[in-house]
Amino acid sequence: MELVCVDKDLGAVRLRDHLGTDLSYPFIWLRDNCPSAYHPDTKERTFDLLSVEMDREPEAVRTDGDTLIVEWPDHTSQFSMNWLSEHRPGVPVADPADLPAVPWRGDLGSSNIPRAKAQDVLHDDGALKDWLEATRRYGLSIVEGLEDDPEAGMAVARRVGFLRETNFGTTFQVKSKPNPNNLAYTADALPLHTDLPNQELPPGFQFLHCLANAAEGGGSIFADGVAISEDLCREDPEAFHLLSTVSIPFRFHDEAYDIRRRQFVITTREDGQVSEVCYNAHIAGTFDLPAEQMRGYYRAYRAFMAKTRDPRYVLSLTLSGGQMVVFDNRRVLHGREAFDPNTGRRHLHGCYVDRGEFESRLRVLARR
Ligand code: OGA
Ligand code: ZN
Repeated sequence: MELVCVDKDLGAVRLRDHLGTDLSYPFIWLRDNCPSAYHPDTKERTFDLLSVEMDREPEAVRTDGDTLIVEWPDHTSQFSMNWLSEHRPGVPVADPADLPAVPWRGDLGSSNIPRAKAQDVLHDDGALKDWLEATRRYGLSIVEGLEDDPEAGMAVARRVGFLRETNFGTTFQVKSKPNPNNLAYTADALPLHTDLPNQELPPGFQFLHCLANAAEGGGSIFADGVAISEDLCREDPEAFHLLSTVSIPFRFHDEAYDIRRRQFVITTREDGQVSEVCYNAHIAGTFDLPAEQMRGYYRAYRAFMAKTRDPRYVLSLTLSGGQMVVFDNRRVLHGREAFDPNTGRRHLHGCYVDRGEFESRLRVLARR
């Protein structure tokens, strides 16, 4: 990068990159991001932005090799050109965890779901990174070769990050139980859903370690909320608009808890990309929209719901003992067929790791 000029009218230093593109670095931004603004050990900003006036201008700006030197009335800042190139105003800083979603439909087939071996992800950082990247892109993967121990799947999850505790515990046993407080703890079918949209922050990645699946029935189903939402956006933009701009209440309540939260069924990023899906007909609350909006919302909601039943989107597989399915619970919908507990044992052991911890692990692994 080379220095083009110091443009006092625009309040910025202009640099040109090797492709000839002019880049503008505002003075206030340069002052705020001076390398000396950060604590050398903690790397946190210690500079007080209000200690300089808004329109402070440099007295001189020059380059010395690969360094841009900015002389302020009371301070000299030195920036590496590399760093300036990586931090161009208007361009988000590269993020190794921000891997684009690969939308998938039922025709992906269970044989094409990314897979990893438990021993590899437990002991080999390279294998862990490859598996996390694939899980991030597809929102779904299968870990195989787990020991027949309820802790085996949780150990893999802990390799990713802290377990997310919820009102169902730090881990949860999915089996048919007396007095269930969740339909998952019955032998009933579970239509496609995301877990706990009633939480302030619905859990990120879900880990379901299959310890036994010997009962008749009990097959698993998955669908990609990104593929469903993107198709809905193209085919029925009005439905997509309502589902991404009108929130609905979700609620779980039992003897001990009453946990409620409003969510959009579809959440988009600033750039319009679908970032999140929240859909769980069992714990959706009573819709409270104005009467005149109700019919329109129901039409949109049913259009989304119909896609979750459309075989085009649904991927079926049967988990067996020693396998663990891992999926982004804020993207991929999951469910199961009913099973008959009198014909054999079905037992999954589950937990969650939030997206933040998952992404942090990916970034740290990418440093090497
Ligand atoms: C759950 C769930 C799926 C299954 O526990 O939230 O959806 O296969 N379980 O039992
Ligand atoms: Zn579930």
